[in-house]
Amino acid sequence: MNAQPSLATERLVLRPFRMDDAASVAAMAGDEAVADMTLLIPHPYVVQDAVEWIATHAESFATGKSAQFAITERAGGTLAGSIGIDFVPRHAKAEIGYWVGRAFWGRGFASEAGRAVVRWAFEERGVERVESFCFTNNAASARVLEKIGLRREGLARGYVKKGTTRMDCLMFGVVRDEFE
Ligand SMILES: CC(C)(COP(=O)(O)OP(=O)(O)OC[C@H]1O[C@@H](n2cnc3c(N)ncnc32)[C@H](O)[C@@H]1OP(=O)(O)O)[C@@H](O)C(=O)NCCC(=O)NCCS
Repeated sequence: MNAQPSLATERLVLRPFRMDDAASVAAMAGDEAVADMTLLIPHPYVVQDAVEWIATHAESFATGKSAQFAITERAGGTLAGSIGIDFVPRHAKAEIGYWVGRAFWGRGFASEAGRAVVRWAFEERGVERVESFCFTNNAASARVLEKIGLRREGLARGYVKKGTTRMDCLMFGVVRDEFE
């Protein structure tokens, strides 16, 4: 498989992570306000956690498992967050997940990045469905998902475990026909 591409939007460049992003990733993802709303970011989260996470990306992309993009500002290149997509080839579908550093919230970055990744998945990766979910108390993420064209499909009770707590989740998805 070719190297992971970068995706450019009006204000952002979504590019593969580099090892020198680790300190910024740890600072932003280590924020409890980010970790609380995500499934996979432990708290506390330190630079070594980010280094180990970034080290998995190349193989995950090469094997078609996932793509992780650093959300960076087009002007200046500052790292602002992360958006990832996991592929489920058997079902020709993919799942997106993202976070934005608190200092960058409310500027439309998650929505702008999300639109680009959904488009890339449909146009370049041949998926027929893109889905996502968020905790029921994550109104900002539910709004992002709606803004990028995923439709709210339902409530899955006790869908995941965060630590020892079962979490209800709102389910979102968009299928190819709707996207086109
Ligand atoms: C969710 C998150 C990614 C949003 O990032 P962002 O770049 O600020 O998102 P955007 O600016 O593109 O859009 C946010 C939308 O949510 C709205 N919003 C924000 N807080 C809200 C709240 N408490 N209630 C309702 N809507 C809210 C904003 O007004 C905006 O909608 P609008 O454009 O219609 O006004 C960011 O808050 C984050 O990283 N949170 C922690 C991690 C996380 O939740 N990840 C997603 C896991 S499913």
